[in-house]
Amino acid sequence: MSDLRDQYFRPLRDLRVSVTDRCNFRCPYCMPAEVFGPAYAFLSDEQCMSLAELDLVLRLFVRAGVGKVRITGGEPLLRPEVPALVRLLKHELRVPDVALTTNGWLLERLAPELRAAGLDRLNVSLDSLRPETFVRLSGGGRDRRLERVLQGIAAAAALGFPIKINMVVQRGVNDGDIPALAAWTREHGFTLRCIEFMDVGNHNGWCRDLVVPAREIVARISALWPLEPCAPAYRGEVAARYRYRDGRGEIGLISSVTAPFCRDCHRARLSADGKLYTCLFASSGWDLLGALRAGASAEELFTCLERVWRGRLDRYSDERAALLAHHETRRKIEMSYIGG
Ligand code: GTP
Ligand code: 5AD
Ligand code: SF4
Ligand code: SF4
Repeated sequence: MSDLRDQYFRPLRDLRVSVTDRCNFRCPYCMPAEVFGPAYAFLSDEQCMSLAELDLVLRLFVRAGVGKVRITGGEPLLRPEVPALVRLLKHELRVPDVALTTNGWLLERLAPELRAAGLDRLNVSLDSLRPETFVRLSGGGRDRRLERVLQGIAAAAALGFPIKINMVVQRGVNDGDIPALAAWTREHGFTLRCIEFMDVGNHNGWCRDLVVPAREIVARISALWPLEPCAPAYRGEVAARYRYRDGRGEIGLISSVTAPFCRDCHRARLSADGKLYTCLFASSGWDLLGALRAGASAEELFTCLERVWRGRLDRYSDERAALLAHHETRRKIEMSYIGG
C-alpha cells in the first residue's frame, strides 16, 4: 500500500470518476434547467477520456493507494462504455470496492450487464416518493415517471445489488418526505442516506435556511423508529450511520454543512475530461489527460499525481462557515461535472 500523504497527513484511498458531465435529469439543486439548457457547453466526446485512457490513468490511482472507486457523472449510465469500465476496474485492476451513483432512469435495462461486469453496489438518487415532487426535483416534464426509477431499483435489487437511496433534503421542499422514504427503504432492505443540501457549483440557489441539519433528521426518524449510532466502518467514511433498534437496517447522514468531515477526507476526483480535483469545492484541477495526450509517460503522470496529492491542503467544508461570514465567494466546479 502506498504511503502517499497530503499536507494534513491524509492518504489517498478513494476515487470518484465522472464519466460524463451530461445528465438526462435537471435536478434544480444540481443542474437547474435555466442554466443547463440547449446553449450550455457540455464536454464533447473527443474531450472525454476514452476507455483506453481511463485504463492508463486509473492504474496510477490504484498504484497510489486507491481501493474504492465510485463511477459518477452527470448520469454515468449515459456512457455506453460503463460496463466495460466496471470490468476493467474489477477484473484487471482488482479494485476491492467499485460502486456507481445513478438517477435510476436507465437502470432497469442496464442492471444485468452491470452485475455481470462485477459492479459491487449502487447508490440511486431519489428525493421523494410523491410523483409530483419527484418530477419537480428531477426537473422533468410529462414523460418523467417515478415508476420507471422504482422499477430500475427493483430490478437491481432482484439481482442482489446492495442499494443506497440518496435523498437531498431541503427544508420546506421535501423534508416532509423523510418518513415515507424511511418506511419504504426499511421495507425493501435499502439504506436511506439523507444528504444535507450543499452549496456545490455556482447556480443551485443554496441558502443556509434550506439545510435541514443531520441531527434533526436523525431525531425525526428516531421518533418513528428508534435509532442508535453505528461505529464508522472505516476511517474517512462520508456518512454517519445509525441502525434501527428493531434490526430493520440502517440509515446514513451526510452532514457536509453542519458536521464537516474534511479531517479524514481521503478522496480524489477525476472529471470526464481527465482533470484531477482534490476537493468537491475546488476551482481548478490538474489536467492529467492533457499531459497524457501531449505525450507524458505513465511514470511522469504518476509523479504529477504524487506531487498534487502531497501538496493538498483542501478542507472547504471546515472553512465554509468562515468564508460565508466574510461573504467570500469562490467560483466552484459544477456538481454535474465532477459527480458529487
Ligand atoms: P458510499 O461509499 O456508498 O458511502 O458513497 P459516497 O457517500 O461516497 O457516495 P455518493 O455518490 O452516494 O455521495 C453521497 C453524497 O455525499 C453526495 O452528495 C456527495 O457529493 C457527498 N460527498 C461524497 N464525498 C464527499 C466529500 O468528500 N465531500 C463532501 N462535501 N461531500 C461528499
Ligand atoms: N447538495 C447535496 N447533494 C447533492 N447532490 C447533487 N447536488 C447536491 C447538492 N447541491 C447529490 C445527488 C446524488 C449525489 C451524487 O449528490 O442527489 O445522489
Ligand atoms: Fe443529474 Fe444527478 Fe445532477 Fe440530478 S443530481 S441533475 S440526476 S447528475
Ligand atoms: Fe473532502 Fe473537500 Fe469534501 Fe472536505 S469539502 S470532505 S476536503 S471533498
